[in-house]
Amino acid sequence: MDPLSQTEAASSLTDGQEAAGSANSANGHANGANGANGANGANGTNGSNGSANGKANGANGANGSPPNGHGSSSVIQQRVDSDFRNVLGKGLSVCRRNILTAGIFSFFVNVLLLAMPIYLFQLSDRVYTSRSTDTLIMLSLVVGGAIVAHVFLDMIRRFILMRVAVETEAKLGAPVLSAAAKASQNGSNREFQLLGDLQHLRHFITGPVILLMMDVPVAPVYLAATFLIHPDLGWIVGGTGLILFIIAVANQKLTAVPYTQANTFAMRANLAADAMARNSQVINAMGMIPEGVQIWGRETASSLKAHLAAQDRNIYMTGLSKLVRLFTQVAILGWGARLALSDQITGGMVIAASIIGSRALSPIEGTIEGWRSFIQARAAYARIKTLLENSPLNWERLRLPRPQGRVTVERILYVPPPTKKVILNGISFELEPGESLAIVGASGSGKSTLARMLVGSIIPTAGNVRLDRMDLRNWDPRQFGQSVGYLPQDVQLFPASIKANIARMREDVTDDMIFDAAELADVHEMISHFAHGYETQVLIDGSPLSGGQKQRIGLARAFFGDPRLVVLDEPNSNLDAPGELALANALSRAKRRNITVIAITQRPALLQSADKIMVIKEGTAQAIGKRDDIIPLLAANGAAKGAPAAPGSGTFQ
Ligand SMILES: Nc1ncnc2c1ncn2[C@@H]1O[C@H](COP(=O)(O)OP(=O)(O)O)[C@@H](O)[C@H]1O
Ligand SMILES: [Mg+2]
Repeated sequence: MDPLSQTEAASSLTDGQEAAGSANSANGHANGANGANGANGANGTNGSNGSANGKANGANGANGSPPNGHGSSSVIQQRVDSDFRNVLGKGLSVCRRNILTAGIFSFFVNVLLLAMPIYLFQLSDRVYTSRSTDTLIMLSLVVGGAIVAHVFLDMIRRFILMRVAVETEAKLGAPVLSAAAKASQNGSNREFQLLGDLQHLRHFITGPVILLMMDVPVAPVYLAATFLIHPDLGWIVGGTGLILFIIAVANQKLTAVPYTQANTFAMRANLAADAMARNSQVINAMGMIPEGVQIWGRETASSLKAHLAAQDRNIYMTGLSKLVRLFTQVAILGWGARLALSDQITGGMVIAASIIGSRALSPIEGTIEGWRSFIQARAAYARIKTLLENSPLNWERLRLPRPQGRVTVERILYVPPPTKKVILNGISFELEPGESLAIVGASGSGKSTLARMLVGSIIPTAGNVRLDRMDLRNWDPRQFGQSVGYLPQDVQLFPASIKANIARMREDVTDDMIFDAAELADVHEMISHFAHGYETQVLIDGSPLSGGQKQRIGLARAFFGDPRLVVLDEPNSNLDAPGELALANALSRAKRRNITVIAITQRPALLQSADKIMVIKEGTAQAIGKRDDIIPLLAANGAAKGAPAAPGSGTFQ
């Protein structure tokens, strides 16, 4: 056993207990909103799960310690990155070595088991004939010692595997979650399912199948032993092994498709249930529960049906292989008796051969039965490997000086793959640090898409978005994230206190920084009206905050940490008059602090605070220029359509 690995695994477990919950900051690393979902997924109920979170902290151990300001965050970042890049190679090398050790132990575990049949054979052929008690005592002592050694080694290999399992999940948990969060920025959150894959891997390593697989290398030794007893018996055992193998392959072929179908449908049923959870208000308000249940039920029924079909076939094939195995026992005993009658072998040898034969076959049979879970574990590992290796988080990036906030957008084109629809086309503009731009345009004209592109959440098909002349793709994601603020159109808060939400779930922050952001966004007064003030807990559905309140907390979150570029997507869509006033105040404060602000709006009120205005229509910039040049254009445009768009009221058409 490798004592080192034990201590390591144990220490990552304790890390997890000490600093549980700071996994969030590891996720913040990649993509805020999605990170939280993933963290929920990781917070299972059993012990080893805790260790996955544990490693999230283990990877950036400094997080667990008291706040030590900005200096430590870059250290944390580097440690996460280097963990991330090395985790599959160096990180898991201990695990690989330990699995090998367990394999070597398995060999001896099995060889020691030969003591039993040898004992039997010696008893019947030597002790009974010689009637020597001394021999009996000697033999018993030897076999007793072998059994103790067997049990002891068996325990050790299980201990090792258990630790390998925990270690694997602990090592991979944080990187997988980070990579999943990063991958999900392209709109899919399928990657979060990979946390399930990780659990699958752990279950496999701690399960019975891997032990049986480790027993397989000894099967040839057993087979050789039966050949030594008598070649005929060896052929019987060898032949049975071959038949069992053929049955198993047939079983795989017959059940692969229905099992895959069952899994696919089960996954879809889960997604349907998730969607119901997310839309619980709507479902209840409009009496949609039966429909929701029906959709879920359809997927579940299909899954169960496929599962049943697979299981039926599996039972047939397992029955067949059991039949073959039992008949082999009879064949060995029967043929052995015949050989014994013709004095070729002794009675003790027959019994020994029967035991050894079944020992040779049982790991083969077990492996075959468990082959599916091996395949699944292997596929799970392959998916994790692909995710980690292809993740953009792997690219090493230079940490640049803190940006000033110069934004350059060069002829961006956005055509998302499946639809081939051009959503943004040839938009270019440049903003100096501290300049503000308002983007106006009808609904569906591509404003939100542009906003997501400006914060690097989606990548343009062609063209570039640059911050301080550096393409967004080349920024270190964590550094970039800390330099920008983003308020999405559909504000979602994390289930945590208002304070934690404003602080972007970071723990290494001072109350001053939170207060500063709240002041800048002009939400301090609103927050102080809550009974628990900054400690008010926001629930998963956003209660007890109203839509407008959520939007204003989101605004403070966007301004947290003195960002250099802030992108606000319709920040006033849910605001009342005082809210709008607060927003205007926030924008003028941001200007004083030289923060570059890009605000999207459907309402003209915001325009007065902007230096520049861009009018966007069907993905192209119709007009862009100084505020005072564009406002008359907008007004004329509105008047021509008979809907005057005087600043301060109305909506753009
Ligand atoms: N991922 C996507 N795939 C395909 N179409 C999209 C995607 N995202 C947005 N769109 C389409 O792009 C257009 C612009 O959307 P959006 O930027 O949300 O508009 P706005 O914010 O101006 O109301 C819409 O027609 C929308 O259907
Ligand atoms: Mg929008």
